[in-house]
Amino acid sequence: MRQLLLKTDIHKFDTFKEFVEEFKLTEDDLLFTNEWLYKPYMEHLNLPCQVYFQEQYGLTEPTDIMYNSIMADLKKLNYKRIIAVGGGTVVDMAKWMASEMPDDIYDAYKLNPTFFPKHIKELVIIPTTCGTGSEVTNIAMIYLTKENTKKGCANNELFADYAVLIPEFLKTLPYNPFMYSAIDALIHAVESYVGRRYTDASRLFGKRAIELLMNGFKKMVEEGPDARFEILEDFSIGSNYAGIAFGTGGCNAVHAMSFPLGGMFHVAHGESNYALFTTVMKFYARKNPTGAIKDINRVLADILGLDTDGPEVYDALEEALCSLIRRKPLREYGVNEEICAEMADLVIEQQQRLMTNTYVEMDYNDVYNLYLQCL
Ligand SMILES: NC(=O)c1ccc[n+]([C@@H]2O[C@H](COP(=O)([O-])OP(=O)(O)OC[C@H]3O[C@@H](n4cnc5c(N)ncnc54)[C@H](O)[C@@H]3O)[C@@H](O)[C@H]2O)c1
Ligand SMILES: [Fe+2]
Repeated sequence: MRQLLLKTDIHKFDTFKEFVEEFKLTEDDLLFTNEWLYKPYMEHLNLPCQVYFQEQYGLTEPTDIMYNSIMADLKKLNYKRIIAVGGGTVVDMAKWMASEMPDDIYDAYKLNPTFFPKHIKELVIIPTTCGTGSEVTNIAMIYLTKENTKKGCANNELFADYAVLIPEFLKTLPYNPFMYSAIDALIHAVESYVGRRYTDASRLFGKRAIELLMNGFKKMVEEGPDARFEILEDFSIGSNYAGIAFGTGGCNAVHAMSFPLGGMFHVAHGESNYALFTTVMKFYARKNPTGAIKDINRVLADILGLDTDGPEVYDALEEALCSLIRRKPLREYGVNEEICAEMADLVIEQQQRLMTNTYVEMDYNDVYNLYLQCL
């Protein structure tokens, strides 16, 4: 059995300039980023490469429409290597830009896909949020307008050749995306630790990620949100380790349940996970309190200064996270009882990749009731 799925070389630099010097950018490179990252971090370096901005194709997380229009444009361009600098949105789009592309991306995401990715260009990924870990996973997420939900394509052809961590990018990340992406990373680490596809190696990275991220949150709770600027590297490395952990161990119910919410109500990925996280974990902890969740509860309890490893840990975790950023009840996004049933259906029908990895067996009623609890 495979113990760790990781095909990407990982580098770290203090500045983007140091990266440019080491990776020797040329006119054969295509830099894919956002203008608001290009201006402060890259423009003054007079790079020789071609530059494309994600926002030319849309400002939301990636959709099938955005993918199809970028693919149509890229077919006219010559480039040998993609340098993707951005959050999970830019990064996931770049994974397809380094692959052979279908005429319609839906062909790769429909229930029985008729197109599979094939890696044909070198891909360098520089994440600028501290969340997705996508720089080291083989997954590209997409919102399918045809199905009104988000879905992932997991294929080893989507791995980047290089992942480059440059924590200085996190300086300009606004507070809300910072928090939501860091909470997303924490969820990757926790879910992969308790999921059924865990290995010792995935847990090693997951546990370290939890420590780095939780100690960061604790510092922010104690010293104020600006304390994060002193420890950006911990968030950058923590999210990367969480990516390595879930690349093997996989996510499960939190992510599976967040995709219909994100898809139907256009809630950002990290935010929609956060809306469900502690409720799902409490459910896990009550159903099987003595399994792997006990290890995680212990780690969280130690950092939070608690004398318990029971489900109450998640009340304290929620309180700590909510003091940093409010968790909205699902009603505030427009969800009601009827929609909870619709979303539970979507989870059971479309998210089996994740639901086969839950910590405890879950059926439609469990999912529906958990949505109701988050209302
Ligand atoms: N492929 C995977 O393994 C994987 C895993 C988890 C999530 N995802 C996907 O990633 C996407 C979410 O990615 P995300 O949470 O990184 O958010 P994001 O890419 O949507 O970025 C959030 C916002 O912050 C801006 N931004 C990013 N970095 C910045 C910086 N340093 N300074 C200023 N602004 C900055 C972005 O332009 C955007 O407006 C979702 O589509 C999600 O489904 C993919
Ligand atoms: Fe995620």
